[in-house]
Amino acid sequence: MYRICEKEVLAPNIIHMCFEAPRIAGAARPGQFLIVRVDERGERLPLSLAGWDPEKGTVDVVFYVLGTSTMKLASLKEGDCVLNLAGPLGEPTEISHFGDVICACGCFGIGPAIPLIKSLKDAGNRVVTVVEGRSRSFIFWEDRLRSLSDKLHVVLGDGSCSEPGWANEFISRYLSEGNRVDRIFVHGCPFMMMVVSEASRPFGVKTVVSLTPLMVDGTGMCGACRVEVGGETRFACVDGPDFDGHLVNWRMLTNRMKQLVGEEDLSQRLWER
Ligand code: FES
Repeated sequence: MYRICEKEVLAPNIIHMCFEAPRIAGAARPGQFLIVRVDERGERLPLSLAGWDPEKGTVDVVFYVLGTSTMKLASLKEGDCVLNLAGPLGEPTEISHFGDVICACGCFGIGPAIPLIKSLKDAGNRVVTVVEGRSRSFIFWEDRLRSLSDKLHVVLGDGSCSEPGWANEFISRYLSEGNRVDRIFVHGCPFMMMVVSEASRPFGVKTVVSLTPLMVDGTGMCGACRVEVGGETRFACVDGPDFDGHLVNWRMLTNRMKQLVGEEDLSQRLWER
C-alpha cells in the first residue's frame, strides 16, 4: 500500500498527488512514469512523474480526471492509500546539451515538464517554455515554470492574455521569425502533442513527445500500449514513452484510444451509482 501524503486541486479536473514511495523516489529520472492501481479491481493507470524527493521518499504525479479510474483516484484524500505503484517505468528522456530548446506543455503535462526543464537547464541548455491553457484557470505552477526557464510564454485559448492562441501556433510563429531552436519537447494531451509536432515539422526541428497510452503490465509483455512510430510497432512502456513526434502515427494512436469509449462510459455509470 502506498500512502497519499499530499493532494491538491490545481485547476478544473487537474489534480496533484504526492505518494510515499521511497524506492521509486530513489531511482526516478525525467520522462519516466508510474503505473497506479487504486484497488484490486482497479485499472492500471500510467501517470508521468512530475517530481520526486529521494530524501523524503516521495513521488509526485499530476493527472486529469477523465473516466472511472481517475475519478476513483481523485476521490481519495490525504492519508488514504492506493494498492500498487509500479515504477519508475520507461526510458528516461535523453538529456544532453542541445543548445536552444523549447518545452511546450499544457494541462496535466505541466507536471512532467518541471523535472524535464530542470534537467535541461542543468545540462546547459537555454530553455524557452510555452505553457498553454483554455483560460487562465488552467495554468498552474506558473512561478515554478518561470523560475526554471530562461523565458516563459503563457498562451491562452480564450485570448485573455498578451499571447492568445495555443502552443502550436506559438511554435509556428516563433520558428517562422527565424529563432534558433535545436529541439522541442512536448508534454500534454495527445492532440496537443500532435498539433505541436505538425507545427514544427516544416522547420525540421526534432520534436520529442511523451506517449502514455492505455497500458496493462508496463513491462513490454502485453502489447496494450503499442504505437506505430516510423512505420514500426513500438511499445510505449519500454521503448518510450518518448518518441519523435514527426514519426508517430497519430491517427492510429487516437483511434486506439477511442476503442474502449463504450466500456469506459458503462464503467463510469456503474461506479457513479
Ligand atoms: Fe504492456 Fe506496454 S503496457 S506492453
